[in-house]
Amino acid sequence: MNILVTGGAGFIGSAVVRHIIQHTSHHVLNVDKLTYAGNLESLASVADHERYQFSQTDICDRVALDQLFKTFQPDLVMHLAAESHVDRSITGSKDFIETNIIGTYQLLEAARFYWNALEESKKATFRFHHISTDEVYGDLEGTDDLFTETTPYAPSSPYSASKASSDHLVRAWHRTYGLPVVLTNCSNNYGPYHFPEKLIPLIILNALAGKALPVYGNGEQIRDWLYVEDHARALYTVVTEAKVGETYNIGGHNEQKNIDVVKSICTLLEELAPNKPSGIEHYQDLITYVKDRPGHDLRYAIDASKIEKDLAWVPLESFETGLRKTVQWYLSNTKWIENVQSGEYKNWLVEQYQADE
Ligand code: NAD
Ligand code: TYD
Repeated sequence: MNILVTGGAGFIGSAVVRHIIQHTSHHVLNVDKLTYAGNLESLASVADHERYQFSQTDICDRVALDQLFKTFQPDLVMHLAAESHVDRSITGSKDFIETNIIGTYQLLEAARFYWNALEESKKATFRFHHISTDEVYGDLEGTDDLFTETTPYAPSSPYSASKASSDHLVRAWHRTYGLPVVLTNCSNNYGPYHFPEKLIPLIILNALAGKALPVYGNGEQIRDWLYVEDHARALYTVVTEAKVGETYNIGGHNEQKNIDVVKSICTLLEELAPNKPSGIEHYQDLITYVKDRPGHDLRYAIDASKIEKDLAWVPLESFETGLRKTVQWYLSNTKWIENVQSGEYKNWLVEQYQADE
């Protein structure tokens, strides 16, 4: 099959592209604008593969999208391109509205016109897979509650509101035009090639550099962590096996308080990187409580029983094994890290943290 992946140079998209090229015989066209979060170095292991091609294209550019659909003739579309960082959406929401809402609309329209013209047998097997987040469901207050596929939407941040909007568009394109869609809503991912503005890579790299480890508010917020390769495998399973119109929640059964995540990283670093920067006795001494994120959701947790039951998908990594692999990856991939720690990323960190330093 020909699989068109949007956002394939990002954290999760690159794991999806690597998974498809390395574990299947399908062809991939990676459509990515290469924003600050897009990094072709994350695709170095597949870049020269004959079944892989890349197009630097903005999903808001309908003319370019139409041309790509025409020449690549996709059997499946996996839509991951998005602005994805909650903190950035708070300081500047425009890009989130443009890419996550308008971009998804343009992609849906390009897919719909392409799909309408397909012969009947191809029309029946075509899929548009929209990759979304558990953040559309908002905050869980009760400690035992879990997000299910029928939890009402209640997004809190510009990021989650823009993703919720895009989910609604995708479902409307199915109901109104019959476009064969599937959707997934996943919990927080972590693992290799994660851009170091997000909690886990930021803490690993700050600790190794002897810098403050910023914990928002009291650090009691809870996230449900999933290893990125488990997510990539789930996405491939859904796009190839799920029934049209279905939604699946994807999660790792790994609920952790932020402060505990930060402490676990420090403990792993004590073992794996015992030579600390001068003047640092314990990595944990670097933990610094900073002002809280506005509108910060307290708890996310996923009920993944539907995908486990229908599609026999289960995560292979526990938080313990996945976090160890992740820390080891950041310790041995210094070149990738050096290259992302430049340009726009640096400017962002200065803007974000100067108030607290
Ligand atoms: P990311 O920020 O690492 O990557 C996003 C990619 O999209 C980048 O390569 C970027 O260049 C590209 N992109 C951005 N705007 C574009 C545009 N206008 N046109 C084309 N390409 C564009 O994000 P990620 O963490 O890999 O997330 C991928 C998807 O998964 C997103 O839709 C996100 O909402 C969803 N998701 C993420 C998580 C998580 O924990 N990271 C969890 C659940 C769902
Ligand atoms: P993040 O990785 O930004 O993912 P999301 O906001 O999509 O869940 O943040 C994960 C959690 O960690 C979230 O509750 C915010 C918190 N956090 C910090 O405490 N300090 C930080 O420096 C960052 C980036 C996040």
